[in-house]
Amino acid sequence: MQKITIHGGQKLSGTITISGAKNSAVALIPASVLCDEQTTIFNVPNISDTDALKEILSYLNAKIVQEKDTMVIDSSNIINKEIPESISKKLRASYYFMGALLGKYKKVSMYFPGGCPIGERPINLHLKAFEMLGAKVTNEGNKYTVEAEELKGTEIYLDFASVGATINIILAAVKATGVTTIENAAKEPEIVNVATFLNNMGAKITGAGTSKIKIKGVKKLHSCVHEVIPDRIEAGTYMIAGALLGENLKIANVIPEHVEALTSKLKDIGVDIKEGTDYFIINKVNKLKSTNIKTLIYPGFPTDLQQPITTLLTQCEGKSKIKETIWENRFLNTEYLNLMGAKIETKNDTAVISGPTPLKGCEVKATDLRAGACLVLAGLIAEGITTITNVEHILRGYDQIIQKLTNVGAKIELN
Ligand code: EPU
Repeated sequence: MQKITIHGGQKLSGTITISGAKNSAVALIPASVLCDEQTTIFNVPNISDTDALKEILSYLNAKIVQEKDTMVIDSSNIINKEIPESISKKLRASYYFMGALLGKYKKVSMYFPGGCPIGERPINLHLKAFEMLGAKVTNEGNKYTVEAEELKGTEIYLDFASVGATINIILAAVKATGVTTIENAAKEPEIVNVATFLNNMGAKITGAGTSKIKIKGVKKLHSCVHEVIPDRIEAGTYMIAGALLGENLKIANVIPEHVEALTSKLKDIGVDIKEGTDYFIINKVNKLKSTNIKTLIYPGFPTDLQQPITTLLTQCEGKSKIKETIWENRFLNTEYLNLMGAKIETKNDTAVISGPTPLKGCEVKATDLRAGACLVLAGLIAEGITTITNVEHILRGYDQIIQKLTNVGAKIELN
């Protein structure tokens, strides 16, 4: 089992360049199976979640050539066979093969996806939408089979603006007959990125990025090239690192509009942050004010930055309050922050953080991806040595985290 060891207290200066967005790439890779020819995707992050998707593609007989961050996928000879649990459970996003294979072959058989233990994570909205498009869903234990004689465009209203369900509906509807509309669709930038990819292949999707998306079915999807957008959550994590320890720390290759909810909070609490066209420069200041945060769907404050920003709130003066509205189980990080010296009380969907509290290094566990990011940030400011276990969660979603932090002055090792 690998561990991350951090000697805390080092200033961070220089530049961290943000990689392609995990939550975009993990949808674009399965979406490539809809193409009848070859797709080229640039700026793919080097993380274990994209490796797991490549494994599923290879299992389905797609040809993949990857050189650095460019992935070329040839889906012309796919064999649409059942995806076994051993690979589907490696990550959440394996469920995008449901929409993509259903959309292309009118049938998919696979096991329930995996992912971080941050809540119950049902897929009822995805399955209901497949049924509305004309598919029949059957399940035996963890195995789902979804098949249709014909997929027919229809009007789908989502009870919740789910990211995964919105993308899966787009994937299933892109080759359906007629027009599908999604009302109360999720508006996250990753959805726009996926819709653009499919439109580049010849799909007819409008409205992505708004709460009403329209998909006019097409017969064929052709070869295309596409680029993954910068990862707003990775950017946000390093912006928080800058607030904690930055000395002119530059976070480069960011779309500032995608992180506005975070930037606004950082400014509110007193962080010294300067915004450029595609970068931020951040300096640590000595006194920060407490604040309240409520996680929301985009463009609200992202749940995926809730755990990372908790580390910063332990350094703010006074009581900060976090209300987590998306996931039921996203405070597992607080137990370990408390072990390091934080004062955090959690009750149901709320955490109250009293600060500032100095943190001390000790052994802590990354219970999930963003909890891991929170503990890396805590280790960077803690006195002494922090050892993080279960780091495979962190490596699922942060491209070259050790290298990127080492380059700007952190003392961090993977061993
Ligand atoms: N939900 C349902 N039924 C469904 C689908 C979702 O009840 O069929 C509920 C969920 O249980 C949750 C809420 O709706 O309470 C939001 O779920 P959503 O479907 O939007 O999330 P997701 O697609 O499973 C993606 C990201 C998550 C991110 C959320 C919210 C990927 C692979 N994952 O998950 O990212 O937290 O959107 O923005 O894109 C992460 O990167 O650490 C991560 C967990």
